[in-house]
Amino acid sequence: MGGVCCRPTPIDFDGDVTLFHFTLLRCVGKGAFGKVRVVQHKQTKELYALKYINKQKCVKMKAVPNVIQERRLLEEIDHPYIVNMRYAFQDDENCFFCLDLMLGGDLRFHLERLGSLEEDVVRFYVAQLASAVAFLHEHGIMHRDIKPDNILLDQRGNAHLTDFNIAVHFSERKLTGVAGSMAYMAPEILAKRGYTCHVDWWSLGVCAYELIFGRRPFRGRTNSDLTYSISKDSLKWPEDAEKKCTRPGMLVLKGLLDRDTSRRTGCKPNGEGFQELRRNPWFKEIDWEKLELKELSPPFVPDAKKANFDASHELEELLLEDNPLKAKARKASNQENMTPEYKQMEDQFTPYDFKKMQRRSYYPHNQSQLISTATAGSSTGMVSSAVTSGSRPGTPMTTAGDGGRVTIHNGSMDMHRPEEEHDGVAYDNEKEPR
Ligand SMILES: Nc1ncnc2c1ncn2[C@@H]1O[C@H](COP(=O)(O)OP(=O)(O)O)[C@@H](O)[C@H]1O
Ligand SMILES: [Mg+2]
Repeated sequence: MGGVCCRPTPIDFDGDVTLFHFTLLRCVGKGAFGKVRVVQHKQTKELYALKYINKQKCVKMKAVPNVIQERRLLEEIDHPYIVNMRYAFQDDENCFFCLDLMLGGDLRFHLERLGSLEEDVVRFYVAQLASAVAFLHEHGIMHRDIKPDNILLDQRGNAHLTDFNIAVHFSERKLTGVAGSMAYMAPEILAKRGYTCHVDWWSLGVCAYELIFGRRPFRGRTNSDLTYSISKDSLKWPEDAEKKCTRPGMLVLKGLLDRDTSRRTGCKPNGEGFQELRRNPWFKEIDWEKLELKELSPPFVPDAKKANFDASHELEELLLEDNPLKAKARKASNQENMTPEYKQMEDQFTPYDFKKMQRRSYYPHNQSQLISTATAGSSTGMVSSAVTSGSRPGTPMTTAGDGGRVTIHNGSMDMHRPEEEHDGVAYDNEKEPR
């Protein structure tokens, strides 16, 4: 029989990227805003991680500016130790990021299973992440949320920074919005007297300490105890510290966790801080040139036979999700009836396709730095109309309100993520400095 109605509609791979271009595979992660699953491109057969954010939830959580900002920043960057964006698109229900797939799991997952990591392994990750952080800072971007949950391993065991949800551009003007996960926040953020990209080096220090010793350097039962500890406590070492870490290692941790940003490791301007870090004796075994070409063999190779993900994400999707992800054709959009937030997503979460478009910046002070599609493979070097239109839509502004999770302090928005409250998480939509 075989009625004509059952024949699948042909997929237009030359047109804008849509969910129809991908086969949906297992769920591997969940963040506060998005779910993440493995997908395969039907034409190229490449595997990717698809992070998708439900529009309704995004509006409810007042996170529309964050999602747009994340999409814009990710278009600008491409680095061996960053989880790079390959495609971006939306349908009526979700905004989608298609990212490099990391099959080795995140460092929170490994830390929870192992208790702590070998110093050699951590040194290797710190070197890779330092290279990513220096690259971001060179492009005027601060990440603000470096923590083990946002560091992902590929299947060979290389570390990559992900989650640009609260990353921002910075310039001369210092930021004041309290943003990030409190346990990893630099003291100058909590002091509310202004901070800049130096905060990322501090967070990297907190991560490295936690990975080596299996506990964080500054702790507190309440947010105010934690704030006190970060701001005032002297850096202490666990009793068995010398068994787990050499003196040069401890000196690097101490250097990253220096409250004085003029002395903090990594912070000297114009990349000099990173150059100093590269010359540090702790890294003498690291061949930095090979590292940046991704030619070094990682000291820990994640077990490819075991799933390096929490199986609960997949189970939850199978058992509890009443609206499972499915490719759906878009309804003709009636922009008149859209709320401002939906309209903002419609207009500003523009499609991106790394095979067809050149990466570029949405921010005035970075406009001159066109970023090549070095890893784009078959890039045609074509620039889509979406990126040649000259004037970019304005930077999204915070739409602050008093919904359950959002509080406003001094004009900045702090968004509390209940599932991570033990870390004292506060999220902020910092306005882009001009
Ligand atoms: N590219 C990826 N490959 C594999 N897993 C990923 C990828 N991106 C995210 N994940 C998993 O999903 C989790 C949430 O993703 P993240 O980008 O941090 O979202 P959120 O902004 O909601 O925190 C991560 O902690 C990680 O475990
Ligand atoms: Mg995250």
